Amino acid sequence: MSFITSLARMWLTRTTKPFIFKNEYDQILSYKECENLGLYVHIPFCKNICSFCPYCKVKYNEDLANKYIDSLIKEIHMVGSQNNEKKVVTSLYFGGGTPALLVDRIKEIIDTINQYFIITEGIELELHPDNVTIEILEKLKASGITKISIGIQSFSKKYQKILGRNTINIDSLKEALNKISFETVSMDFIFALPNQEYEDLKNDIDLAFSIGANHIAIYPFIDFTFTASKVKAMSKRKKRKLLDSITNYCYKKGYKRNSIWTFSKEESANYSSMTRESFLGFGASSTTLLKDQFKINTFDINSYCERIENNKLPTSLTIRFTKHQRMVYWLFWTAYSTKVNEADFEKFFNIPLKKAYRFELFISRLFGFAKYKNGIYEMTLKGAFYYHYFENFYTLAYIDKMWGIMKDNPFPKEIKL
Ligand SMILES: C[S@@+](CC[C@H](N)C(=O)[O-])C[C@H]1O[C@@H](n2cnc3c(N)ncnc32)[C@H](O)[C@@H]1O
Ligand code: SF4
Repeated sequence: MSFITSLARMWLTRTTKPFIFKNEYDQILSYKECENLGLYVHIPFCKNICSFCPYCKVKYNEDLANKYIDSLIKEIHMVGSQNNEKKVVTSLYFGGGTPALLVDRIKEIIDTINQYFIITEGIELELHPDNVTIEILEKLKASGITKISIGIQSFSKKYQKILGRNTINIDSLKEALNKISFETVSMDFIFALPNQEYEDLKNDIDLAFSIGANHIAIYPFIDFTFTASKVKAMSKRKKRKLLDSITNYCYKKGYKRNSIWTFSKEESANYSSMTRESFLGFGASSTTLLKDQFKINTFDINSYCERIENNKLPTSLTIRFTKHQRMVYWLFWTAYSTKVNEADFEKFFNIPLKKAYRFELFISRLFGFAKYKNGIYEMTLKGAFYYHYFENFYTLAYIDKMWGIMKDNPFPKEIKL
């Protein structure tokens, strides 16, 4: 498996040089010239820890959480004040963990962001189903949140049990969502769980749209090696059948696919932290993607706060890109939207996409992975499945390895992928 990903990496980056992440960082970040810049804020606290979850998080503790938010606000000041003018950005995304556990401090964070950035496409926040109460939603709305996503995982008791999640009170969820409206209400589901059938997912999707969602995300279950989860991922053949049938169901219902994993009921409903050309991340474990580098903050909360106390950015690792490495990153992140626009590529790299990847584009059309129309390569159903499949490989070969190391070592010397 890692042989295939290594081969693909060498092919696409036109070099045998691996991705090398080093324990070094820039105190000044060159984000001023980045267009389509997104912002990400990580809040790594949860009431209960789910065994399957790979994200950077610890059990909620009020004192630690408040100390962390103080540091987070300071990090935003440190980065934001590097620019003389307010920087226009697309969106701000709060992920976790469970950001709503700190609902009373969300406005303070947004106010700090607003001192340095102009957000044009809304503010998004992830919620645990337990957070979906009228009181919390009201506070979030008053703080400026315009889009929410709720981590349902499954409405079925069988899969809630397998995942170790509590039963969801559907009536109170519905009541709160009907009372407090948001531009986008997204619900997250995990698919490809043991013996999961089309009917299970179809029921989840129908229920989501009937109780107030206008957008859904269906993530393939990934069995990370460093988590304690005993749940095993589904075979490739079954997974493809399930993904194709559920995608066709969504198309039949008239839902729009707005990224590899997401569908929306209304044209205006969108929600994604992934499909950005470049982004600035704040908080432990957050990543920053700029024109010439990708950097990752330390996963360790105390080390994060300590760095900030010393007026230093909490970056743990940085990779400085070769041109083709950056192209691969650009294509990988952009392809989440299922579309690659050749004009956007040329604008970013000053070289036509067809010139950089003529052979790959030819192959992708020949094998029916993508269709080309008016300057845009759009993934077919087959292409979307293989992207899912490749993404799964990539996640296990790269992210699994990196996060596995970073969760135990705040500042590793070097990671080669
Ligand atoms: C940070 S959580 C969402 C918010 C909240 N913490 C919750 O759990 O409800 C982000 C999402 O990642 C997805 N996720 C977590 N672990 C996963 C795994 N092992 N494989 C696939 N998706 C996963 C889940 O759908 C989850 O809702
Ligand atoms: S799935 Fe959500 S609630 Fe569970 S540990 Fe991960 S971030 Fe926390």
